[in-house]
Formats: sequence, C-alpha cells, structure tokens
Amino acid sequence: MKQGSNFADWQKHVQTHTEETLTRLLPPAGQLPAPLIEAMRYAAMDGGKRLRPMLVLAAAELGNAVTEAADYALAAIECIHIYSLVHDDMPEMDNDSLRHGKPACHIQYTPATALLVGDALQSMAFSLLSRPTSLDAARQLQMIQTLAQAAGCHGMAGGQAIDLACVGVGLNQGELEHMHQLKTGALIRAAVTLGGLCCQDISQQALTALDHYAAHLGLAFQVIDDVLDYEQDSSTLGKTAGKDAQTNKPTYVRLMGLTTARQYAENLVQQAIDALSSFDQRASHLRALAQFVVARNH
Ligand code: IPE
Ligand code: IPE
Ligand code: MG
Ligand code: MG
Ligand code: MG
Repeated sequence: MKQGSNFADWQKHVQTHTEETLTRLLPPAGQLPAPLIEAMRYAAMDGGKRLRPMLVLAAAELGNAVTEAADYALAAIECIHIYSLVHDDMPEMDNDSLRHGKPACHIQYTPATALLVGDALQSMAFSLLSRPTSLDAARQLQMIQTLAQAAGCHGMAGGQAIDLACVGVGLNQGELEHMHQLKTGALIRAAVTLGGLCCQDISQQALTALDHYAAHLGLAFQVIDDVLDYEQDSSTLGKTAGKDAQTNKPTYVRLMGLTTARQYAENLVQQAIDALSSFDQRASHLRALAQFVVARNH
C-alpha cells in the first residue's frame, strides 16, 4: 500500500488483510476436532483493532520486506494476542464475559475449550513463524526467539502473573511500569521487531530505534487501556467497562488519576515518535499508529 494513502484507509486495509490471512491460516471450519477449531476461529475472527498486525506491517515498511514472512508474523503475533485475551477473560483470571462485543470464548464454549484454544493458538503461532520463507533460516530463528521471549514468563505471561498477584496491592510507579511493560508492552515490542526483521536489509541501528519506539508505545498502550476502562462504556469497548476499579486492579488511573494518566501516555507517545527521527516518510504509519494509540476510544 502506498505511503501517502489515508491512514484510516490503511488501517481498514490491514484489518481486512488480517482477517483474510487468519481465515486462510487457521485450520478450516469443519475440520476435526470440530469444537476446538470452531472455538479457535470464533475467538480469532471478526474482532479487535488488529493493532499488532498493523505494527508488523508498518515496521516492515522500513526495508525490503519479504511479504510472506510479514503475513506469517502478523498472524503469529495476533494468535498469541488472542490466546492471551481468551485466558485473560477466564474466571481464574479477570472473569470477564464480553470480548470483542460478543460472549467471551469460555462463555460461548466451555472453560476447558477456552484453555485449549489458548494452547492451540500459541503453538500455531510458532508453527507459522517456522514455515519456510525466503528469509534466511538464522533470521527466522531470531523471529521465533523474539516472539517466544515476549510471550513467556519474562514477557506477557509474567506480566499477567504480576497483575493477578497484585490485586488490591498499591504498586508504586516503577512496579506498575514493570508490570505493564511485561503484560502488554512485550507483545507490542515483539510486533514491531518482527516487522523489522521481515526486512533482510534492515540495519541493527534501525532495529534499536524501532525497539525504543515500541517500548514507549507499549507502555502508553496499556496506560490508555486503563484510562478507557474507567472512561468508556461497555458497548464502545466491546468488553466490560469499569472492571479494573471493581476488581481492585493495579492501574495507572488508580495510581495517578485520570488526567495525569492520560498526560503520561501522551508524553510516552511523543517519546515513541521522537525515537523515529532518523527515519523518513517510510515511518509515517508507525508515527500515525502512535497517535492512534492515545486517540482511540476502544
Ligand atoms: C487488549 O488489547 C488487551 C491489552 C493488552 C491491553 P487490544 O486493545 O489491542 O485488544 P483488541 O484490539 O480488542 O484485540
Ligand atoms: C490484559 O490486560 C493484557 C493481556 C491480555 C496480556 P487487561 O486485563 O487490562 O486487558 P483487557 O482490559 O481485559 O482487554
Ligand atoms: Mg487482565
Ligand atoms: Mg482483562
Ligand atoms: Mg484492561
């Protein structure tokens, strides 16, 4: 897609492309074991902003990307994201019944099926990343390693563990930042790195700048998630609003109040944009995505 095209059109294009790519790469409906595959497709399709796929493709615009590798990467990161949401909504975690404007996976199916949907989406992500492409094998291993680190105990799963352990606990800003960087920041960072790594010609310097961008953006994203949980209604969010306060979650709104939390996120987003200063207009979608993260209403 051309750099100069309207950002909203580009977002729609990526959303449609993500939907089509997942439709193609997920096991087909009707294949056995039918209830598991149907539930995987239910959770993964027709939902979400597809921010992580957008980040993959926007970062991939910085070089000469291998299209096939970018498609596997965007599907892989979205599979991990969806799996994290399916488990996050389960009674043992956040106990939420609404996701993407429809019943959460464990409500629509069963808790056991939701567990297995997470398991299967996680292994599918790594299976996709390890499919042969024209990237060299060492580069593909680096991509697998990037996603594995981001999803595991020092990334998303670790952050989720801290989140659950800290219900009702007054975290200080450093502790809260650490938790947000892990539970949400890690996958956002991985999305950006994966996009960059799809370009065999990308420099180490560019990858470092990208990571700086993504670290700030990832934190800002979760700060705004906390703000929206407080500000918005359930129909706008497509998930239950007011849940964090109700369940005494450690959030930025609780730590610093609504206005300061929003200002903090805006500040982080500016730092993310500043990290892209060495790139020309090829980084325009990354810049626009940073603005989108604070401007969004769901
Ligand atoms: C929600 O992420 C969970 C967090 C990591 C904060 P998204 O807002 O990106 O989820 P989608 O867009 O509904 O899939
Ligand atoms: C969840 O954070 C982050 C992950 C799923 C890894 P939240 O619990 O705040 O996400 P929402 O608000 O339910 O989407
Ligand atoms: Mg949670
Ligand atoms: Mg939740
Ligand atoms: Mg939330």
